[in-house]
Parts: sequence; structure tokens; C-alpha cells
Amino acid sequence: MMYNLVRNALFQLDAERAHELTLQQLHRITGTPLIHLVRQTLPFKPVNCMGLTFKNPLGLAAGLDKNGECIDAFGAMGFGFIEVGTVTPRPQAGNDKPRMFRIREAEGIINRMGFNNLGVDQLVNNVRQARFDGILGINIGKNKDTPVEMGKEDYLICMEKVYPYAGYIAINISSPNTPGLRTLQYGEALDDLLQAIKHKQQALENQHQKYVPVAVKIAPDLAEEELIQIADSLVRHNIDGVIATNTTLDRSLVSGLKYSEETGGLSGRPVQLKSTEIIRRLSQELQGRLPIIGVGGIDSLVAAKEKMAAGASLVQIYSGFIYKGPPLIKEIVSHI
Ligand SMILES: Cc1cc2nc3c(=O)[nH]c(=O)nc-3n(C[C@H](O)[C@H](O)[C@H](O)COP(=O)(O)O)c2cc1C
Repeated sequence: MMYNLVRNALFQLDAERAHELTLQQLHRITGTPLIHLVRQTLPFKPVNCMGLTFKNPLGLAAGLDKNGECIDAFGAMGFGFIEVGTVTPRPQAGNDKPRMFRIREAEGIINRMGFNNLGVDQLVNNVRQARFDGILGINIGKNKDTPVEMGKEDYLICMEKVYPYAGYIAINISSPNTPGLRTLQYGEALDDLLQAIKHKQQALENQHQKYVPVAVKIAPDLAEEELIQIADSLVRHNIDGVIATNTTLDRSLVSGLKYSEETGGLSGRPVQLKSTEIIRRLSQELQGRLPIIGVGGIDSLVAAKEKMAAGASLVQIYSGFIYKGPPLIKEIVSHI
């Protein structure tokens, strides 16, 4: 009821403006008694995954709190884990606005933000101030002006900087809005990247005397053969987890709707089945050798359970949270 009122007001605004305003307000109440306005006390539903204990299996997906400015506010709402980022080594503005569109009839979102973020150093500053007692994932990427062939270096720079502060590190090679990024999901480019990341992880483990798991985030737009090859590569390189999935380029479920022709990645209900099918196929292929974090179109308890039945150990929400707000966290965490 309360969220419906807030949402109706926010939905009068341009999508990105609504997003900015909400984050500003959440940031303002962080560290003040007003944080109680968003607090929800939810049951403890622990899940062990990637060697970590999550207090419940529901997380906030990457891209909502790119700079880690509202970690404690999202924590107060009851998320078991929060993935901040995607962050890049250097700050960057992202694509021109408008770059975020609601497809209301389908409860979807199209975005082509292009990794707008304040850079990894600012993210680390923000993370250091957070008091969240759940697991914090830090999602990293490459700057737009770093050539894809050199992209690996950007991931290694970010890994080094975030390692001491991350519960896990997510490697984003699946955003459709950074030209060429998705090519890192294939063949030699993937093997080369994963090898370097694993090597870096070992060095950082020795240096910090702490093991931080690494998960790779993949796209939903993968052919069967490509998915099998990715699964094989993740296992061979001893990657700790896989996050499936990012947004889709497929517009078949929104054709004819307002904004459906906008360039970018589509999320929310229109990606739900596609993402679940990727998880199911991946799970068959992985046979439990590494855990899956399921994300894509979760907008209800039923949808969260479907992801878990398909093989996900943990789940995340973004678009569903925009449309349904904090009551969705309560619905899922209370009954999962
Ligand atoms: C506006 C917007 C920005 C996003 N930014 C990122 C990002 O920076 N990094 C990332 O890994 N995923 C990003 N995502 C993808 C989400 O984390 C998620 O994988 C995808 O939206 C599917 O989940 P959903 O249907 O619950 O939204 C973004 C999604 C949206 C809608």
C-alpha cells in the first residue's frame, strides 16, 4: 500500500530521475534514526554458498547501487546480500540520456546506462563506511575506452582494490551496453581472462590471508553450445560461482510496446523464462560443481522458487524490486 503510493509518484517521473531521487533519499537516511522507515525484520534463512554463509538467499542485483552509496538502507530492507557496481577502474559518465525506460505493461525495463559510475576508489570509500552485516558482492567491469583486448587489466585493477572489502567479487562480462564486452564470454578470450583472474585471486589470498570467491556473470543470450563451453571453462578454472543472468537483447516478448525498440538490455518479467532456462541448462551441465546465483525477472515468491528449482542456490532482484518495492523482499524471504 505504502510502496504503491511512493511508486505511483516515482513512476510519474523519467525512470532515471526516479532512480536518482530514490537513491538520494536512501543515502540521506543512512546512519540516521530515519533508517527505521525502511527497516523490515525478516526471518533468518541461512544458505551456505561459495564458502560463505548468507543470512537469507535473496540479494539485490548489480546496477541499482552502482557506487555503493545506499548499502545500509538496502541492508535494512532485509536483503541477505547486496551486489554493488558495476564499477570500473576510472570514473565514467556512461551513455547519453535518456538511457533507462520502463515498459510498464510488461513490467520490464530497458537500459543502456553504459557503466556510469564514480570509479573503484570512490566505491571502496563508500563500502568502507557501510555497516551492513550481510554479504557484500562487488561487481567489476572495464572502462568503455579500454580496448577489449586490454580489458583483462581493468578487471585485475578492480580486483586488487576491492578484494579486502568484498564478500565475493562478480566479474561482469555480460553487459550489452559496453561495446565488445560480451565477446569476453567466448573461447580463448574467456580462458585467458579467467586464468588471469584466478592467478590474481591466489596472489591476493596470500597477501590478505583471506579467500574471496569470484563469480562470473553471464548473459541470457547464449546458444546451447556457447553455454556448455562457458560452463566447461568456469569449472576448468575453478571459478567459485556463476551469476545467471544479465539483461537480454531479445525483444520478442515486448514487441509493439512503448519503448520496446530502444537500444539496450531488457530486464524484468520479459526475461524471466529465458533466464530460468539458462539456469536449468547450466545446472545440468555443472552438476553441482559450482553454485548458480539466479537473477532475471523475479517478481514473486513463485518466480524465486522457480529459479531455485531450476538449480539456483541464491537469487537476486532488480526490476521486480522497482515494480514491487520492499514488500517483494518480505514476500520472498519470509516464505522461501
Ligand atoms: C537499469 C539497470 C542497470 C543495470 N546495471 C547493471 C550493472 O551495472 N552490472 C550488472 O552486472 N548488471 C546490471 N543490470 C542487470 C541486473 O543486475 C540483472 O542482472 C538484470 O536486470 C536481470 O534481473 P531483473 O530482471 O531482476 O532486473 C542492470 C539492470 C538494470 C535494469
